[in-house]
Formats: sequence, structure tokens, C-alpha cells
Amino acid sequence: MAEKKVIAVVGATGAQGGGLVRAILADPSGEFSARAITRDPSSEKAQELAALGAEVVAGDVDDEASLQRAFAGAHGAFCVTFFWAHFSPALEIEQAGKMARAAKAAGVAHVIWSTLEDTRNFIPLSDDRMPTLGEHYKVPHYDAKGEANHLFSDAGLPVTFLQTSFYWDNFIYFGMGPQRGEDGKLAITFPIADGRVAGIASEDIGACAYGIFKGGAAFIGKTVSIAGEHLTGAQMAAAFSRAIGEEVGFNAVTPEVYRSFGFPGADDLGNMFQFTTEFEEQYCGVRDIDAARALNPGLKSFDQWLSVNASRVPVP
Ligand SMILES: NC(=O)c1ccc[n+]([C@@H]2O[C@H](COP(=O)([O-])OP(=O)(O)OC[C@H]3O[C@@H](n4cnc5c(N)ncnc54)[C@H](OP(=O)(O)O)[C@@H]3O)[C@@H](O)[C@H]2O)c1
Repeated sequence: MAEKKVIAVVGATGAQGGGLVRAILADPSGEFSARAITRDPSSEKAQELAALGAEVVAGDVDDEASLQRAFAGAHGAFCVTFFWAHFSPALEIEQAGKMARAAKAAGVAHVIWSTLEDTRNFIPLSDDRMPTLGEHYKVPHYDAKGEANHLFSDAGLPVTFLQTSFYWDNFIYFGMGPQRGEDGKLAITFPIADGRVAGIASEDIGACAYGIFKGGAAFIGKTVSIAGEHLTGAQMAAAFSRAIGEEVGFNAVTPEVYRSFGFPGADDLGNMFQFTTEFEEQYCGVRDIDAARALNPGLKSFDQWLSVNASRVPVP
């Protein structure tokens, strides 16, 4: 049998990268093998991937030399940054540059950069419909990723830009699940009025990335934007009601109110939802569910995601 082509995966112990590693390993007759990059190969999560059949190597997106070693000899590299670990858009851009240079040095044949829109192309900094954050950004965790796109293309890399969507897993891990109001009723709260949010099971992002690596040349130089469904707040609440057997309402607040909630990143997310709502046609419009399903036939709907995960969503 021909030797497998290695896909080196940044963030392999996390959501997106983990989904990609598991998708590769779930297809043992496929042409690829998975190289999981982690800061700590001895960690439980890293060892779980090793037990599934991944090669586990050390690498840190702050350390370019470690990335060069981790990408060496690989056919493909999946590159992602971790905004919520540090809240610094400037650091994301720096880390993207390190990954791009390391991928170039390693001579990989295909890079996927997990990115999002630079919302300043839609809402310039001078537009005061939403506050400018950190002096240079409207939606820092979007803008920095979009701004970093050119680092991959300028390097002449064979790159696919993968525009991801809102993880439904945020209902589990990000405190976005239903809360009980003073009236005792459950509700989810978003500043989206009757707008739709492009959402996805985070595991499906990696599975779509696997489809992109399999598609190879057809995706090089392309932007691929994925979602599992485009749902209004009322539709997400109704799906929750069905899944947990108790009525969940949808509490629409304004972006101003959402920004004032005060949790870390509330201003960034308030701006993000204002962007996705005001530019729904462009934001949902490019996130093609059928194309995502073509890449990943197991792509879940929100109901399907809830059928597996609703019990993991903390409900007070
Ligand atoms: N939440 C959402 O709805 C959403 C939607 C779209 C895009 N995103 C974006 O997704 C990105 C995060 O991806 P994710 O959710 O897959 O991450 P994640 O699940 O938080 O994964 C984090 C993993 O990244 C690794 N990591 C952290 N810092 C690292 C470093 N310096 N060098 C190497 N590895 C490091 C850690 O692995 P080790 O500890 O093993 O090293 C960790 O397991 C963020 O930038 C976010 O903006 C999020």
C-alpha cells in the first residue's frame, strides 16, 4: 500500500483540529494519516488521539521553529488560532504569520487556514454604529483572522480559506445555554432580533476540512464557508424546547445591551452578532449548507446535534 500523506493538525486536542484528526482516523482506507500537534504530547487528550492512531508531536503556535518541525514532511497543514485563550487579535495575526512561514518552509502541498471575515470590509472603523474595540477592530476575533489571510496567500502557499460558523457547542462551554428568568421560564439570549445565525457542530468543521484535503487541488486558492444550519433565535429556542422537554423562549436584546453584559468578550460578541444580523445576506449567504454537506456527508442539523448533546448543556 502506498504511504499515507500526513496532515499536520494545529489545535488537534481542541474542537476544530480534533474534529479533523478524528475524521482522518475514522477513514482508515483513506489516503491521509493524522499528525496531531499539541504543546504537551503527554496530556490525556493527546494520548487519547495517539490511542486512536494519530502521530502526536510537540508544537506551539508561538514558536515558529517548533511549527517547522511539526509540519516537516507533511502533505497538508491545518492552521487555527485560539483567540479566546488570550483575547489578542494582534497575537492571532502574529501566530498566523508563524504558521504560514513554517508551512512555506516545510513545503506543504495544501494548507487550510481557519478564518473568518474581516468585518471592517463591511463596517469601517469610522462607522460608529458599533464601537471600535482595541483601537483597530470592530469584531476583533473575526477581523484578525480575516486580516491574516494575506499572510498565507502572500507566502505563495497553496491555501484554502475555511470560513467557519458559530459553534452550537457554545451552548455547553461558553455559557450561552438557556437561563431561567425571574418568571422561572427558560430562555436563550442573543442580540439578533429575528436574524439568522449560521451555526455548526464544532466537530463538523474538522470533518469539512477533511473533505477539503480530500478534494485537494479543486480547493486551492478558494474560500470555503460552511454552516450546518442558518437559524433564528426563535428556531434555536424551539429546538431546545423539543430536545429538553421544557419550553425555552428566545430573549432578543439589543447589541448595546449584549455588549454591556460584562463577561469577557461580551463587546466583541455583541459586535459580532450585530455584524451577522446587519449583513445576514452576506454572512449566511456565503455559508453554503449543501456545499458543507458535500464535503462532510455526516453534517449535523441543530436538532441532530441536540439529540446527542442537549444533556450536556447546563440548564438551571
Ligand atoms: N466558539 C465559536 O463559536 C467559534 C466559531 C468560529 C471560530 N472560532 C474560533 O476557533 C478558534 C479556536 O479553535 P478551537 O475552538 O478548535 O480551539 P479549542 O477547542 O479551544 O482548542 C484549543 C486547543 O488548542 C491548543 N492550543 C492552545 N494554545 C496553543 C498554542 N499556543 N500552540 C499550540 N496549540 C495551542 C490546545 O492544545 P494543547 O493544550 O494540547 O496544546 C487546545 O487543546 C478561535 O480562534 C475562535 O475564534 C470559534
